Amino acid sequence: MTAFAEGDLCLLVDNKGRHYLVTLVADGNFHYHHGGVPHNELIGIEDGATVESSAGGKLTAMSPKYSDYVLRMPRGAQVVYPKDTAQILMWADIYPGATVLEAGTGSGALSIALVRAVGEHGRVVSVEQRDDHGRHAKKRIDAFFGRTPSQIELRSGDVVDHVVDVAPDRIVLDVPEPWRVVDAAVEGLRNGGIFCSYLPTVPQVQQLVETLELTRRFMDFMTFETLIREWSVSGRSVRPDHRMVGHTGFITVARKRAGR
Ligand SMILES: C[S@@+](CC[C@H](N)C(=O)[O-])C[C@H]1O[C@@H](n2cnc3c(N)ncnc32)[C@H](O)[C@@H]1O
Repeated sequence: MTAFAEGDLCLLVDNKGRHYLVTLVADGNFHYHHGGVPHNELIGIEDGATVESSAGGKLTAMSPKYSDYVLRMPRGAQVVYPKDTAQILMWADIYPGATVLEAGTGSGALSIALVRAVGEHGRVVSVEQRDDHGRHAKKRIDAFFGRTPSQIELRSGDVVDHVVDVAPDRIVLDVPEPWRVVDAAVEGLRNGGIFCSYLPTVPQVQQLVETLELTRRFMDFMTFETLIREWSVSGRSVRPDHRMVGHTGFITVARKRAGR
């Protein structure tokens, strides 16, 4: 992006580091505790430029990063945290041109990351069983890209029923009962493909891994969690932050091998 245009997402950062996410509309107004800024003053300025509010506050306008957006967008379902999304993209090996089957779409946070990772020649089929979540996710995905990305297809229903016809290279699940998808994955996931699941509790992980193992068609198992401990660096005060996100979910990946 060179300059902000009407309809763009714009992240405003004040001098205390507080972030405000706005969608720019002609004649709109942004208000915060330090006065206001007409959107018309933001439309046309370059990414990273600083403006002054009516009460003299300084705000730097930035195009939002993926993490800025998903942590601030209105949510229907709980999103996958960016720290986990980063690991899912790496360990599920999401590559440009891949066909990925995802469920549930939820709020669309992980879908956005998958769309970016598969690129314009890839395909993401995202399945959601709740229509209200599906509608909400579509709005969030379209708002992030400023359009509906051509490489995503949002489907309604149970993901189990979509594996065989999609014949994905990768399956990425954020559903409470991923073991229900295992038989369909044996049939529909391509050999050499990766099954990836994000789960909040240990018994769920156990049940999934046992189910995958019983098929004798999966190998290269890995289950892990991601902890990010941020540090505060200010002069000679260099120390870990007082607070951190303690637990989100466990990521399990396994690779499908060909049958005999
Ligand atoms: C935690 S949310 C997913 C959030 C999403 N990963 C994100 O980052 O925004 C789980 C979603 O899975 C959906 N779901 C649960 N079981 C499903 C299934 N078998 N097929 C499709 N969707 C399912 C739920 O309705 C819910 O919206």
